[in-house]
Formats: sequence, C-alpha cells, structure tokens
Amino acid sequence: MAASKKKPSTKKPSTKASSRKPPSRVTRKTADKHLLYQASVQAPEIEVDFMVSTYRALRKKQPVSMREDFCGTALLCATWVKSDPKRRATGVDLDPSVLAWGTKHNIEPLGDAAARVRLLEQNVLQKSPGKFDVINAMNFSYWIFRTRKDMLSYFKAVFGALNSDGVFVCDAYGGWEAQEPMLEPRRVAGGFTYVWDQDKFCPVTHEIVNHIHFEFKDGTKWNKAFTYEWRFWTLPELRELLEEAGFSKVEVHWDVAPENDEEDYRAVKRAENQAGWLAYLVAAK
Ligand SMILES: C[S@@+](CC[C@H](N)C(=O)[O-])C[C@H]1O[C@@H](n2cnc3c(N)ncnc32)[C@H](O)[C@@H]1O
Repeated sequence: MAASKKKPSTKKPSTKASSRKPPSRVTRKTADKHLLYQASVQAPEIEVDFMVSTYRALRKKQPVSMREDFCGTALLCATWVKSDPKRRATGVDLDPSVLAWGTKHNIEPLGDAAARVRLLEQNVLQKSPGKFDVINAMNFSYWIFRTRKDMLSYFKAVFGALNSDGVFVCDAYGGWEAQEPMLEPRRVAGGFTYVWDQDKFCPVTHEIVNHIHFEFKDGTKWNKAFTYEWRFWTLPELRELLEEAGFSKVEVHWDVAPENDEEDYRAVKRAENQAGWLAYLVAAK
C-alpha cells in the first residue's frame, strides 16, 4: 500500500518531537509505550499553532484557556502553556495511570509553568470547572462515542464548557482506504517502527477496530500496544451533530498543500475525493 501523507497513521510528522524521543536502542523490554506513542503520532506544536491561528482568525484575539479532552499524557496541555506565559490548560482523562505518567514526564518538567496546568481524572461528559476559549479532542479519541445520542451529548457538554466566543477543534479521517484492512508500517526517529493496523470495519454499523503495534531493531515487537474500538464517523454526520449541539458555525479544514509538501489546512466547502485524508472540524459557539 503506497503511503500517503494524508492517512491518519502518517498524518503527524514527529520531527518536532525530538526531545521526547525514546532511547535509541529501544527494544520491547526497554520500551515505554507512552514515549513511543508521543514520538509516533503526536506533533503538539503543530496543533497548538493550528488552534491559535484558527481561533485568532475567527475571534480576532488570542486564546488563553484550553481544555484537552481525552488528554492521555497531556502533551498538548504542556505544549500549550509553554507556548505563552498567559496560557492555561486543563486535561481530562478517565485513566489515572496515564495521567500519572503525563504528570511525571510532561507536566512536572515544565517547572513554574506546571502551575498553569490542571489534570482532571474524569469522564469528558462530566462538567469540569471553569470555561474555556478552546476545547479540543485530537487523534479521533471522541470516536469512542458510537451512537448519535452519545456523540450529541458529548458535543453539548463541550458547547456548555466553552466561553461565549469559544471554539471546539477535533480531527477526523477518512477516504476509501480508511475502511479496508491494512497494516501500514512507518519508521520513526528513535530507532523503531510504528505500525498502524486497520483490523476490522463493519459496513452496517461503522464499528471499527484499529491497533498500534511497535517493532524494534533487535527484532522484538509490541503487538497491540494500543487498541481503538470506535465508530467510523463521516464529516457530514459530525457537522450536523455539532450544529445540533448549538454551534453557530462549523468549518472543515482540509489539507490543501501539494502532495509531499508540509500540510496546509484551510477551511473548504468541498474537496476532491482521496484514498486517505485527515481533516479538522472547527466549531465556533
Ligand atoms: C488515544 S488516547 C488520546 C491521546 C491524545 N489525546 C492524543 O491526541 O493522541 C485516548 C484517551 O482517552 C481516554 N478516554 C477514553 N474515554 C474517555 C472518556 N469518556 N472521558 C475521558 N477520557 C477518556 C483514555 O483513557 C485515553 O487515555
């Protein structure tokens, strides 16, 4: 399968993640799956830039407060507060172990700036204290909501937690290759291979199961380091639900850069069909 930069597994170049690289001789025995994940799929500087520039374009001012839903290791929270001394971040995740990992590896090393990050161990559907300029749900985490009713409840909860001029940003992927079984390996700086595994897709329910595996230079492997059981949502469904939740303007930001160039996401009304794509939904209150 030819690799395309627009597929979710290759979407986020990890070139800016060098400080978070795992040790160079990493093996199954020495690997830390959160470090591998961060180095493979996260590019938080790019996402902070995207959220800031999108918010500024819509609101003509700088965003200050950000909530990262499904925050996992809270790398985006850390990057947000590092990007400006006025910025504050709240991360929300159900899993205490990943929050503890993130606190140790991403938040405590911030020093004084750590005081501007709050991590909440709770369901994203629960009310969190305060209101936010920007809320985000990245890497498709919100696709754990598998019914229209549950997704609408989530979008309504986000709407209620935003300031009156707040903006919600989330990502989505698709294209005809997104529905076919495939194993897509990609070498990552740091001496290992990340493998995106599209394991199952049900055309009736759109239930989808994907895994992330890691392979190391010594021949050892970490199979199913992460497994995702989601509903595969489409952009029109998500747009309609965001509008139903109360958002006044919902944009789809599409990568308009020529193949092999740096991504350049712009609001579009229509796009050409593609084998694999990643897009951002930007919903303004
Ligand atoms: C794939 S990780 C997301 C990591 C990170 N946000 C990113 O962009 O890559 C998904 C996280 O969502 C959390 N999670 C799943 N359901 C949740 C819920 N209902 N409320 C809060 N967190 C949830 C899991 O514990 C897990 O840490």
